[in-house]
Order: sequence, then structure tokens, then C-alpha cells
Amino acid sequence: MVNGRLRIGGCDVHDLAGSHGTPLFVYDEAHLRARCAEARAAFGDDSVVYATKAFLCTAMARLAHEEGLLLDVATGGELFVALTAGVPADRCVMHGNNKSLTELREAITVGVRHIVVDSFDELDRIESLVAGGLAAPRVQLRITPGVYVHTHEYVSTGQNDSKFGFNLANGDAQRAIDRARASRAMQLVGIHCHIGSNVFETANFTKAAEVMVKFSNTCKLPELTLGGGLGVAYLNDEHAPSITEWANALRAATTGLAAGTKVFVEPGRSIVASAAITLYEVGTVKEIPNVRTYVSVDGGMSDNPRPVLYGSGYEAFVPSRCEGDRTRAVRLVGKHCESGDVLISEGVLPADVRVGDVIATPVTGAYGHSMGSNYNKVPRPAVVFVGNGAARVVVRRETYDDLVRNDVTDSV
Ligand SMILES: Cc1ncc(COP(=O)(O)O)c(C=O)c1O
Repeated sequence: MVNGRLRIGGCDVHDLAGSHGTPLFVYDEAHLRARCAEARAAFGDDSVVYATKAFLCTAMARLAHEEGLLLDVATGGELFVALTAGVPADRCVMHGNNKSLTELREAITVGVRHIVVDSFDELDRIESLVAGGLAAPRVQLRITPGVYVHTHEYVSTGQNDSKFGFNLANGDAQRAIDRARASRAMQLVGIHCHIGSNVFETANFTKAAEVMVKFSNTCKLPELTLGGGLGVAYLNDEHAPSITEWANALRAATTGLAAGTKVFVEPGRSIVASAAITLYEVGTVKEIPNVRTYVSVDGGMSDNPRPVLYGSGYEAFVPSRCEGDRTRAVRLVGKHCESGDVLISEGVLPADVRVGDVIATPVTGAYGHSMGSNYNKVPRPAVVFVGNGAARVVVRRETYDDLVRNDVTDSV
């Protein structure tokens, strides 16, 4: 901070809004690299698979690869971006609960490190592809361990009532293991679980890991993936375990694992969330006496749908007046045609917040840009990486032309 003005990566944040426009995602490249390095140091080489769904573009794929992480891709599109970025296929792991025949064909043809198989239908599809001449891929099987975690139900995935994976409790997991082991269309190398996202209590991970260790030992397979899911603090009064603390908890929970079993983890949010802030410009301040003040910005649910989807909370501040008060209770809203287009339901901003102010929402590096949309034909924001006093655009701002690029007009 210099004279009350926030700097990130040596760049004045307010000035970034001036030179690159708003809304703008600003990622601190050193912070991204530090989280990758922390994960790698905590879990060991070739053990950390970055879950690209949290935030993916060519630059991010390259950065994670340069930092020695593998990449979890959950669709053909994510695989395409990783490969286009120059990430070797054998550094990619293919995920997804409903991979199409085409996606599986692509993954096998390019030679991903392994495929995490999610269903009996997927086993059928792999068998049909291999019968058609493709090489038998290495596979892990996604197991649903029957562990309930304290997070939003939309991102809780380890309970028995889940669309993901083979349930341990009803015997599907064992049936899938038996089938995959007997199949000549795949090399079964391990099992996998992912219990949910934005999980704050390491006890949840411990519980799932213990279930998985027991099952892994009975299956006698060389690899075990324990998923991602580590939460991050979005609000001033929240506290989340660090990646290192998460690793310590998993290490303690896996001491009984058969010697030589290779453990993988798949963090997404904890790598990228706190590396970024989003900048907006205030367009209207509407005060309704005895009701509330609405502060509208030039983005909203199209660049951060998490508040609408999960009721997620965020903080906001004015980066050019960081040391000022934050005493005015406001609802920070976007520009979309929905009353539900809320970024912060009960926020606080400086008392003198006004039209033209640049507002920043921190901890917006995960599941914002990647879950964004063009709702109301709002062009997607630019993304910049900052470091050493310079900003480089890694995703350019969409233009109006982009909005009609795929429209077919000669048939109208
Ligand atoms: C299979 C799998 N692995 C890893 C992740 C990453 O989770 P997080 O971003 O919470 O670390 C997800 C997210 O949904 C996932 O589905």
C-alpha cells in the first residue's frame, strides 16, 4: 500500500482499472506460484493435480505446469485448453461424471496420464473404444465414500446420494473394481474420491481419507487420489486451514496406507482463490431511506455467480482509499436484470462511496471467471496477471463482436 492506495505485484490497483477497464480480474502471479509451490512442497513431486475448473486459461495452464503440477481436466474443453497451452497429455488427468464417447476418445488418443472413471456406463464406453482399436488407458475409479461434509449442498459430493462415482456402501465400488480389474480394455491403477468443495474442517478430509485408506488396502492398488476441496477464507472473520495444514491432516490419516501407494490430491480453489481480486466501477448509488443502500457495479452474476448459486459472502473495499472507513452498510449488486444479481448482500463500504469509484472484491480467483457467462450479453471481463510492477493481459476483454461471433446470420 502506498499513500492509502493498494498495490498488487507492484502495480497500483486503481490505475489497473484505468488502463484495462472494468470489470477486471487481477491475479498476483507470485501468489499463484507460491500456492503451487506450497502444495508441491507439502505433498511431494508429481502428487498435486491442479483442478482447472477453478480457473483456467492458457496462462494458468502453463503456470501450473511450470510449477510442476499435473492438471485435472473435467471436459474435452478443459483438456483442449491444457493441450493448447503446451501441457503434455501425460500431465493431464481426465475427470467428469458424464464424459462423452468423443471426450473419452480424445483423452485416450492423446494419452492422458489416467482417466478417473465415474460410472458403469463409462466403463462400457471405454471398452467399446478399446474394442475399436484404441490403447487400454490407465484408470482410477471414483468412489463415493459416504462421507457428508459441512459445505453447501451443491458442492458436497462424497455422500451416498450423489451423481458422482461408485458408492462404497451399496457394493457398486467393489463391483466396479472387479469389473475394471478383469477388463482388458483398461489398466486399473487406483481409486479416487472428492468429498466436496470449500471444506473448512480438516476432520472431514480425515474421515474420508480413513475410509479410502481401508478400501485401498483391500483393493491393493498402487494409487489413491484424495480429491481437492480445501476451503478458503472469503470473509474477514473466516479462517481456513493452509494447504500445508491440509497436507499434514491427510498425511496423518494415511499412515495406515499400504507401503508404496502413491497419493494424489486435486486442489483448485486453494491454489487460485486468494490470488485474485475483481475490480468494478460504481455506476449508481441508490439510497432508500430506512431500507438500504444499493451500490451497483458494472459486472455482477456474469463474472461471479457464486453469491447467487451458493449464497457465498465476499468483502469489498475501495483500493484508492484503503485506509478509509468502511462504515456504510450497502448491498453490492450487479448490472443484470435480476433482483438476485447480488455480489454482497450485507456489505460495508466507505461512507463517501460514490459513482465512479473503483471497488475491489478480494478472493475472487476461483469459480468466478470459470463460471462466468454472457448473461444480458455482457462481454466477459479481461484477466491480467501482475508481478514485478507490470501487468500482462492473459485473457482479453470480450468485445461486442465476440457476442455475435457464433450467430449464423445467413439462415435468418
Ligand atoms: C473431482 C474434483 N477434484 C477436485 C476439485 C477441486 O475442488 P476445490 O476447488 O474445492 O479444491 C473438484 C471440484 O469440484 C472436483 O470435482
